[in-house]
Amino acid sequence: MTAHTLDELLAEGVRGRHVLVRSDLNVPLDGSTVTDDGRVRASLPVIAKLAEAGARVIVMAHLGRPKGIPDEKYSLRPAVDRLAELAGFPVRLANDVVGPSAQELAAALGDGEVLVLENVRFDARETSKVDAERQEFARELADLTGQNGAYVDDAFGAVHRKHASVYDIASLLPSYLGELVRAEVEVLRRLTEGAERPYVVVLGGSKVSDKLAVIDNLIGKADRLLVGGGMLFTFLAAQGHEVGSSLLEADQIGTVQDYLERATAAGTEFVLPTDVVVASKFAADADHEVASADAIEGTAFAEAGIGLDIGPETAAAFAKEIAAAKTVFWNGPMGVFEFPAFAAGTKAVAQALADATTAGALTVVGGGDSAAAVRTLGFADSQFGHISTGGGASLEYLEGKELPGLTALGA
Ligand code: 3PG
Repeated sequence: MTAHTLDELLAEGVRGRHVLVRSDLNVPLDGSTVTDDGRVRASLPVIAKLAEAGARVIVMAHLGRPKGIPDEKYSLRPAVDRLAELAGFPVRLANDVVGPSAQELAAALGDGEVLVLENVRFDARETSKVDAERQEFARELADLTGQNGAYVDDAFGAVHRKHASVYDIASLLPSYLGELVRAEVEVLRRLTEGAERPYVVVLGGSKVSDKLAVIDNLIGKADRLLVGGGMLFTFLAAQGHEVGSSLLEADQIGTVQDYLERATAAGTEFVLPTDVVVASKFAADADHEVASADAIEGTAFAEAGIGLDIGPETAAAFAKEIAAAKTVFWNGPMGVFEFPAFAAGTKAVAQALADATTAGALTVVGGGDSAAAVRTLGFADSQFGHISTGGGASLEYLEGKELPGLTALGA
Protein backbone atom coordinates (compact mmCIF):
# COMPACT_ATOMS: atom_id res chain seq x y z
CA MET A 1 0.00 0.00 0.00
CA THR A 2 1.23 3.49 -0.75
CA ALA A 3 0.44 6.29 1.63
CA HIS A 4 -1.82 9.07 0.51
CA THR A 5 -0.12 12.44 0.33
CA LEU A 6 -1.00 15.93 1.43
CA ASP A 7 -1.30 16.95 -2.23
CA GLU A 8 -4.00 14.31 -2.69
CA LEU A 9 -5.90 15.70 0.28
CA LEU A 10 -5.60 19.24 -1.06
CA ALA A 11 -6.79 18.03 -4.46
CA GLU A 12 -9.84 16.40 -2.82
CA GLY A 13 -10.57 19.78 -1.25
CA VAL A 14 -10.39 20.73 2.42
CA ARG A 15 -12.44 23.92 2.62
CA GLY A 16 -14.82 23.65 5.52
CA ARG A 17 -13.40 20.29 6.63
CA HIS A 18 -11.77 19.69 10.00
CA VAL A 19 -8.27 18.31 9.49
CA LEU A 20 -6.36 16.85 12.44
CA VAL A 21 -2.63 17.36 11.99
CA ARG A 22 -0.08 15.58 14.20
CA SER A 23 2.94 17.86 14.45
CA ASP A 24 6.12 17.56 16.50
CA LEU A 25 6.27 20.75 18.57
CA ASN A 26 8.50 19.15 21.21
CA VAL A 27 10.90 22.08 21.50
CA PRO A 28 13.59 22.69 24.12
CA LEU A 29 12.56 25.35 26.65
CA ASP A 30 14.32 27.59 29.10
CA GLY A 31 11.42 28.43 31.41
CA SER A 32 8.83 29.57 28.90
CA THR A 33 11.35 30.57 26.22
CA VAL A 34 11.77 28.32 23.19
CA THR A 35 15.55 27.89 22.84
CA ASP A 36 15.43 26.15 19.46
CA ASP A 37 12.35 26.66 17.29
CA GLY A 38 13.47 24.28 14.52
CA ARG A 39 10.55 21.92 14.99
CA VAL A 40 8.03 24.77 15.02
CA ARG A 41 9.48 26.14 11.78
CA ALA A 42 9.45 22.68 10.23
CA SER A 43 5.81 22.14 11.22
CA LEU A 44 4.49 25.45 9.92
CA PRO A 45 4.39 24.80 6.14
CA VAL A 46 1.81 22.00 6.30
CA ILE A 47 -0.35 23.81 8.85
CA ALA A 48 -0.23 27.00 6.75
CA LYS A 49 -0.94 25.17 3.50
CA LEU A 50 -4.04 23.54 4.96
CA ALA A 51 -5.24 26.80 6.49
CA GLU A 52 -4.72 28.65 3.21
CA ALA A 53 -6.78 25.99 1.47
CA GLY A 54 -9.65 26.68 3.90
CA ALA A 55 -9.30 23.71 6.24
CA ARG A 56 -10.29 23.99 9.89
CA VAL A 57 -7.00 22.83 11.29
CA ILE A 58 -6.68 21.05 14.64
CA VAL A 59 -3.06 20.42 15.61
CA MET A 60 -2.12 17.62 18.00
CA ALA A 61 1.35 17.66 19.56
CA HIS A 62 3.29 16.63 22.65
CA LEU A 63 5.91 18.38 24.73
CA GLY A 64 8.27 16.50 27.01
CA ARG A 65 7.13 13.50 28.97
CA PRO A 66 4.42 14.54 31.43
CA LYS A 67 2.95 11.69 33.45
CA GLY A 68 -0.44 11.44 31.75
CA ILE A 69 -1.97 14.34 33.67
CA PRO A 70 -2.05 18.10 32.95
CA ASP A 71 1.13 19.79 34.13
CA GLU A 72 1.68 23.50 33.43
CA LYS A 73 5.41 22.88 33.02
CA TYR A 74 4.67 20.87 29.87
CA SER A 75 2.07 23.21 28.36
CA LEU A 76 2.36 23.78 24.62
CA ARG A 77 1.81 27.52 25.23
CA PRO A 78 5.41 28.64 24.41
CA ALA A 79 5.51 26.53 21.23
CA VAL A 80 2.08 27.79 20.15
CA ASP A 81 3.05 31.43 20.74
CA ARG A 82 6.12 30.88 18.56
CA LEU A 83 4.00 29.16 15.90
CA ALA A 84 1.60 32.12 15.78
CA GLU A 85 4.53 34.55 15.60
CA LEU A 86 6.08 32.70 12.66
CA ALA A 87 2.74 32.09 10.94
CA GLY A 88 1.58 35.68 11.08
CA PHE A 89 -1.98 34.50 11.77
CA PRO A 90 -3.67 33.74 15.10
CA VAL A 91 -3.35 30.24 16.51
CA ARG A 92 -5.51 29.29 19.48
CA LEU A 93 -4.54 26.82 22.18
CA ALA A 94 -7.23 24.75 23.90
CA ASN A 95 -7.04 24.41 27.68
CA ASP A 96 -7.38 20.65 27.43
CA VAL A 97 -6.85 17.83 24.95
CA VAL A 98 -10.30 16.39 24.21
CA GLY A 99 -12.30 18.10 26.98
CA PRO A 100 -14.87 20.92 26.89
CA SER A 101 -12.37 23.57 25.75
CA ALA A 102 -11.08 21.47 22.84
CA GLN A 103 -14.61 20.46 21.82
CA GLU A 104 -15.96 24.00 21.95
CA LEU A 105 -13.03 25.59 20.09
CA ALA A 106 -12.94 22.83 17.46
CA ALA A 107 -16.65 23.23 16.77
CA ALA A 108 -16.27 27.00 16.51
CA LEU A 109 -13.35 26.88 14.05
CA GLY A 110 -13.93 28.82 10.84
CA ASP A 111 -12.45 27.98 7.43
CA GLY A 112 -8.69 28.62 7.47
CA GLU A 113 -8.47 28.85 11.26
CA VAL A 114 -5.98 26.94 13.38
CA LEU A 115 -6.43 25.41 16.83
CA VAL A 116 -3.80 23.50 18.81
CA LEU A 117 -4.93 21.00 21.44
CA GLU A 118 -3.03 20.99 24.75
CA ASN A 119 -0.22 18.45 25.11
CA VAL A 120 -1.68 15.08 24.06
CA ARG A 121 0.42 13.44 26.79
CA PHE A 122 -1.74 15.20 29.41
CA ASP A 123 -4.01 12.22 28.76
CA ALA A 124 -2.52 8.90 29.89
CA ARG A 125 -4.34 7.05 27.11
CA GLU A 126 -2.10 8.69 24.46
CA THR A 127 0.88 6.53 25.39
CA SER A 128 -0.97 3.59 26.95
CA LYS A 129 0.30 0.08 26.23
CA VAL A 130 -3.33 -1.09 26.29
CA ASP A 131 -4.65 -0.94 22.72
CA ALA A 132 -8.26 -0.34 23.79
CA GLU A 133 -7.28 2.69 25.89
CA ARG A 134 -5.33 4.29 23.06
CA GLN A 135 -8.13 3.55 20.60
CA GLU A 136 -10.71 5.15 22.88
CA PHE A 137 -8.59 8.30 23.10
CA ALA A 138 -8.01 8.29 19.33
CA ARG A 139 -11.79 8.06 18.87
CA GLU A 140 -12.28 11.16 21.04
CA LEU A 141 -9.64 13.00 19.00
CA ALA A 142 -11.26 11.93 15.73
CA ASP A 143 -14.68 13.05 17.02
CA LEU A 144 -13.36 16.62 17.19
CA THR A 145 -13.45 16.63 13.38
CA GLY A 146 -17.21 16.05 13.16
CA GLN A 147 -18.28 14.85 9.70
CA ASN A 148 -15.87 14.43 6.81
CA GLY A 149 -12.68 14.89 8.84
CA ALA A 150 -9.16 13.90 7.80
CA TYR A 151 -5.85 13.16 9.49
CA VAL A 152 -2.38 14.29 8.41
CA ASP A 153 0.74 12.90 10.08
CA ASP A 154 3.48 15.51 9.86
CA ALA A 155 5.30 14.63 13.10
CA PHE A 156 8.38 12.85 11.86
CA GLY A 157 9.96 13.06 15.32
CA ALA A 158 7.17 10.89 16.72
CA VAL A 159 6.67 8.28 13.96
CA HIS A 160 8.53 5.70 16.06
CA ARG A 161 5.92 5.94 18.82
CA LYS A 162 2.90 3.66 18.89
CA HIS A 163 0.77 6.40 20.40
CA ALA A 164 -2.90 7.25 19.88
CA SER A 165 -2.30 10.52 17.99
CA VAL A 166 0.36 8.92 15.79
CA TYR A 167 -0.81 5.36 15.22
CA ASP A 168 -4.40 4.58 16.26
CA ILE A 169 -5.95 7.72 14.81
CA ALA A 170 -4.96 6.62 11.29
CA SER A 171 -7.47 3.77 11.39
CA LEU A 172 -10.33 6.14 12.22
CA LEU A 173 -10.01 8.89 9.61
CA PRO A 174 -8.86 9.13 5.99
CA SER A 175 -5.11 9.58 6.53
CA TYR A 176 -2.38 11.41 4.66
CA LEU A 177 1.38 11.76 4.88
CA GLY A 178 2.55 15.30 5.66
CA GLU A 179 5.30 16.88 3.62
CA LEU A 180 7.77 17.00 6.49
CA VAL A 181 7.48 13.27 7.08
CA ARG A 182 7.75 12.59 3.35
CA ALA A 183 10.86 14.77 3.01
CA GLU A 184 12.54 13.22 6.06
CA VAL A 185 11.90 9.69 4.85
CA GLU A 186 13.21 10.55 1.38
CA VAL A 187 16.55 11.76 2.78
CA LEU A 188 16.94 8.93 5.28
CA ARG A 189 16.20 6.42 2.54
CA ARG A 190 19.23 7.76 0.69
CA LEU A 191 21.33 6.77 3.70
CA THR A 192 19.97 3.25 3.93
CA GLU A 193 19.69 2.39 0.26
CA GLY A 194 23.01 2.71 -1.50
CA ALA A 195 24.57 5.70 0.23
CA GLU A 196 27.35 7.23 -1.85
CA ARG A 197 30.73 6.20 -0.44
CA PRO A 198 32.70 6.86 1.56
CA TYR A 199 29.80 6.84 4.03
CA VAL A 200 30.85 8.24 7.41
CA VAL A 201 28.64 8.16 10.51
CA VAL A 202 29.45 10.32 13.52
CA LEU A 203 27.83 9.20 16.76
CA GLY A 204 27.85 11.04 20.06
CA GLY A 205 25.52 11.73 22.93
CA SER A 206 25.69 10.39 26.41
CA LYS A 207 24.51 6.81 26.34
CA VAL A 208 26.00 4.02 24.29
CA SER A 209 22.99 1.87 25.17
CA ASP A 210 20.74 4.24 23.17
CA LYS A 211 22.93 3.74 20.11
CA LEU A 212 23.66 0.01 20.24
CA ALA A 213 20.99 -1.00 17.73
CA VAL A 214 22.05 1.63 15.21
CA ILE A 215 25.75 0.74 15.61
CA ASP A 216 24.88 -2.90 15.12
CA ASN A 217 22.99 -2.06 11.94
CA LEU A 218 25.69 0.24 10.55
CA ILE A 219 28.51 -2.28 10.86
CA GLY A 220 29.07 -3.46 7.31
CA LYS A 221 27.08 -0.53 5.86
CA ALA A 222 29.07 2.56 6.90
CA ASP A 223 32.73 2.83 5.92
CA ARG A 224 33.68 4.65 9.11
CA LEU A 225 32.04 5.10 12.49
CA LEU A 226 33.38 8.08 14.44
CA VAL A 227 32.57 7.92 18.14
CA GLY A 228 32.46 10.93 20.48
CA GLY A 229 30.27 12.24 23.31
CA GLY A 230 29.77 10.56 26.66
CA MET A 231 29.55 7.15 24.98
CA LEU A 232 33.17 7.32 23.87
CA PHE A 233 34.31 6.36 27.38
CA THR A 234 32.64 2.97 27.15
CA PHE A 235 34.59 2.45 23.91
CA LEU A 236 37.85 3.52 25.56
CA ALA A 237 37.12 1.17 28.46
CA ALA A 238 36.49 -1.59 25.91
CA GLN A 239 39.99 -0.90 24.58
CA GLY A 240 41.32 -1.39 28.10
CA HIS A 241 41.79 2.26 29.12
CA GLU A 242 40.97 3.78 32.51
CA VAL A 243 38.38 6.56 32.18
CA GLY A 244 38.48 8.24 35.59
CA SER A 245 35.07 9.53 36.66
CA SER A 246 33.81 9.90 33.07
CA LEU A 247 30.44 8.54 32.02
CA LEU A 248 30.77 4.79 31.68
CA GLU A 249 28.25 2.06 30.98
CA ALA A 250 30.25 -0.83 32.36
CA ASP A 251 27.57 -3.36 31.45
CA GLN A 252 27.99 -2.48 27.75
CA ILE A 253 31.76 -3.00 27.55
CA GLY A 254 31.40 -6.59 26.33
CA THR A 255 28.95 -5.61 23.57
CA VAL A 256 31.24 -2.80 22.45
CA GLN A 257 34.24 -5.16 22.36
CA ASP A 258 32.19 -7.48 20.19
CA TYR A 259 31.35 -4.59 17.82
CA LEU A 260 35.00 -3.57 17.59
CA GLU A 261 35.95 -7.13 16.60
CA ARG A 262 33.10 -7.60 14.14
CA ALA A 263 33.60 -4.24 12.43
CA THR A 264 37.02 -4.96 10.95
CA ALA A 265 35.84 -8.17 9.30
CA ALA A 266 32.75 -6.36 7.97
CA GLY A 267 34.77 -3.54 6.37
CA THR A 268 33.71 -0.82 8.81
CA GLU A 269 36.40 1.08 10.64
CA PHE A 270 35.73 2.56 14.09
CA VAL A 271 37.57 5.85 14.54
CA LEU A 272 37.91 6.40 18.28
CA PRO A 273 39.22 9.47 20.11
CA THR A 274 42.94 9.68 20.74
CA ASP A 275 42.59 12.60 23.15
CA VAL A 276 39.87 14.06 25.36
CA VAL A 277 39.25 17.19 27.42
CA VAL A 278 39.27 16.16 31.07
CA ALA A 279 37.66 18.39 33.73
CA SER A 280 37.83 18.55 37.52
CA LYS A 281 34.02 18.34 37.77
CA PHE A 282 30.83 18.56 35.68
CA ALA A 283 30.51 22.35 35.57
CA ALA A 284 30.84 25.18 33.05
CA ASP A 285 33.71 26.72 35.00
CA ALA A 286 35.56 23.48 35.84
CA ASP A 287 39.35 23.37 35.54
CA HIS A 288 40.30 21.25 32.55
CA GLU A 289 43.16 19.91 30.49
CA VAL A 290 43.66 17.85 27.36
CA ALA A 291 44.74 14.27 28.00
CA SER A 292 45.69 11.41 25.76
CA ALA A 293 42.87 8.83 25.58
CA ASP A 294 45.10 6.29 27.32
CA ALA A 295 46.08 8.67 30.13
CA ILE A 296 42.81 10.11 31.39
CA GLU A 297 43.77 9.40 35.00
CA GLY A 298 47.18 11.01 34.46
CA THR A 299 45.86 14.58 34.68
CA ALA A 300 46.02 16.81 37.78
CA PHE A 301 42.55 15.50 38.67
CA ALA A 302 43.69 11.85 38.72
CA GLU A 303 40.76 9.42 39.13
CA ALA A 304 38.32 12.27 39.78
CA GLY A 305 38.86 13.60 36.24
CA ILE A 306 35.80 13.56 34.05
CA GLY A 307 35.94 13.71 30.26
CA LEU A 308 33.63 16.39 28.85
CA ASP A 309 34.70 16.73 25.20
CA ILE A 310 36.82 15.13 22.52
CA GLY A 311 40.32 16.66 22.29
CA PRO A 312 41.74 18.82 19.48
CA GLU A 313 43.72 15.97 17.87
CA THR A 314 40.55 13.86 17.70
CA ALA A 315 38.50 16.79 16.37
CA ALA A 316 41.05 17.27 13.57
CA ALA A 317 41.06 13.55 12.76
CA PHE A 318 37.25 13.47 12.64
CA ALA A 319 37.20 16.56 10.40
CA LYS A 320 39.61 14.82 8.01
CA GLU A 321 37.41 11.73 7.78
CA ILE A 322 34.32 13.88 7.20
CA ALA A 323 36.11 15.88 4.48
CA ALA A 324 36.82 12.65 2.60
CA ALA A 325 33.19 11.46 2.78
CA LYS A 326 30.47 11.61 0.13
CA THR A 327 27.73 10.87 2.68
CA VAL A 328 27.75 11.86 6.36
CA PHE A 329 25.17 11.18 9.06
CA TRP A 330 25.71 12.78 12.46
CA ASN A 331 23.75 12.09 15.64
CA GLY A 332 24.75 13.27 19.09
CA PRO A 333 27.01 16.05 20.38
CA MET A 334 30.72 15.33 20.84
CA GLY A 335 30.84 16.90 24.30
CA VAL A 336 28.94 19.06 26.75
CA PHE A 337 28.42 21.79 24.13
CA GLU A 338 26.13 23.73 26.47
CA PHE A 339 29.30 24.70 28.40
CA PRO A 340 31.45 26.89 26.07
CA ALA A 341 34.69 25.38 27.44
CA PHE A 342 33.57 21.94 26.22
CA ALA A 343 31.92 22.89 22.92
CA ALA A 344 34.99 22.80 20.65
CA GLY A 345 34.61 19.15 19.57
CA THR A 346 30.95 19.56 18.61
CA LYS A 347 31.76 22.82 16.83
CA ALA A 348 34.59 21.20 14.87
CA VAL A 349 32.34 18.36 13.70
CA ALA A 350 29.56 20.81 12.75
CA GLN A 351 32.08 22.90 10.77
CA ALA A 352 33.42 19.79 9.05
CA LEU A 353 29.88 18.81 8.00
CA ALA A 354 29.22 22.35 6.75
CA ASP A 355 32.45 22.23 4.69
CA ALA A 356 31.57 18.79 3.35
CA THR A 357 28.16 20.14 2.27
CA THR A 358 29.88 22.91 0.33
CA ALA A 359 32.14 20.28 -1.26
CA GLY A 360 29.08 18.39 -2.52
CA ALA A 361 28.59 15.64 0.08
CA LEU A 362 25.16 14.70 1.40
CA THR A 363 25.25 15.70 5.08
CA VAL A 364 22.47 14.84 7.48
CA VAL A 365 22.21 16.03 11.06
CA GLY A 366 19.86 13.78 12.97
CA GLY A 367 18.36 14.35 16.32
CA GLY A 368 16.90 16.97 18.58
CA ASP A 369 20.15 17.45 20.52
CA SER A 370 22.45 17.64 17.50
CA ALA A 371 20.05 19.95 15.68
CA ALA A 372 19.84 22.21 18.73
CA ALA A 373 23.64 22.06 19.07
CA VAL A 374 24.39 23.26 15.55
CA ARG A 375 21.95 26.14 15.88
CA THR A 376 23.17 27.09 19.37
CA LEU A 377 26.72 27.12 18.03
CA GLY A 378 25.72 29.62 15.36
CA PHE A 379 25.37 27.45 12.25
CA ALA A 380 22.55 28.03 9.77
CA ASP A 381 20.28 25.20 8.64
CA SER A 382 21.35 25.92 5.05
CA GLN A 383 24.92 24.82 5.85
CA PHE A 384 23.77 21.20 6.02
CA GLY A 385 22.12 18.95 3.47
CA HIS A 386 19.35 18.10 5.88
CA ILE A 387 18.65 18.65 9.56
CA SER A 388 16.26 15.99 10.71
CA THR A 389 13.56 16.92 13.21
CA GLY A 390 13.64 13.37 14.51
CA GLY A 391 16.07 12.17 17.15
CA GLY A 392 14.90 8.70 18.14
CA ALA A 393 12.88 8.48 14.94
CA SER A 394 15.85 9.01 12.62
CA LEU A 395 17.94 6.51 14.59
CA GLU A 396 15.19 3.90 14.51
CA TYR A 397 14.80 4.46 10.78
CA LEU A 398 18.53 3.79 10.31
CA GLU A 399 18.23 0.74 12.57
CA GLY A 400 15.81 -0.61 9.98
CA LYS A 401 13.01 -0.84 12.53
CA GLU A 402 9.37 -0.67 11.59
CA LEU A 403 8.02 2.75 12.54
CA PRO A 404 4.37 2.57 13.71
CA GLY A 405 3.48 6.05 12.46
CA LEU A 406 4.60 5.14 8.94
CA THR A 407 3.10 1.67 9.00
CA ALA A 408 -0.27 3.10 10.04
CA LEU A 409 -0.25 5.26 6.90
CA GLY A 410 1.00 2.54 4.61
CA ALA A 411 4.26 4.43 4.02
C1 3PG B 1 11.76 13.66 20.18
O1 3PG B 1 12.04 14.58 20.97
O2 3PG B 1 12.62 12.92 19.66
C2 3PG B 1 10.33 13.48 19.74
O3 3PG B 1 9.58 14.64 19.96
C3 3PG B 1 9.74 12.29 20.44
O4 3PG B 1 9.72 12.51 21.82
P1 3PG B 1 9.72 11.29 22.84
O5 3PG B 1 11.09 10.65 22.75
O6 3PG B 1 9.43 11.86 24.20
O7 3PG B 1 8.66 10.33 22.38
